[in-house]
Amino acid sequence: MGVLEIRKYGDPVLREAAKDIEEIDGRLASLADVMIETMHAAPGVGLAANQIGVAKRMFVYDAGEGPVAVINPRIVESDGEFVYTEGCLSVPGFSWEITRPDRVHLVGLDLDGNELSIEATEFEGRIFQHEVDHLDGILLVERLDPDQRREARALLRSEFSSRRRDPAGPAPLLEL
Ligand code: NI
Repeated sequence: MGVLEIRKYGDPVLREAAKDIEEIDGRLASLADVMIETMHAAPGVGLAANQIGVAKRMFVYDAGEGPVAVINPRIVESDGEFVYTEGCLSVPGFSWEITRPDRVHLVGLDLDGNELSIEATEFEGRIFQHEVDHLDGILLVERLDPDQRREARALLRSEFSSRRRDPAGPAPLLEL
């Protein structure tokens, strides 16, 4: 299917809460494939479906051990604290030091409909939190402290405003 455009800061689909997936079928598997290709090409280590314009609750990630798709992911437990310099494919060229829980317990489904239950810390735990946030319509700047957030928003508004005014507008949402 090839590589799709990754939606950037200012695109309303990134602020939308994605909907739970009710049917796991071949089309969903194809969507996961194109998301994995798009993530690897970027290159990135995680990609949520709304980043390619599909407001469905699925993300893909690759923490170095091969790509995995997680459907209807939820974090059911988290603890500890981990400081990490975090970036986002939808906010290219920027990164911030962000503190979040260290250990997380992620549950969801795989592409065969089997239950997934993954405990992760540090880098992998950070990917899970970042991608679940995307599916809740939350971008990493919302995880900054209030002063940093004000500064980051002003910076991003000027950086991405010209793209928002693009008369062609964003590409239409993919149907799934
Ligand atoms: Ni991101």
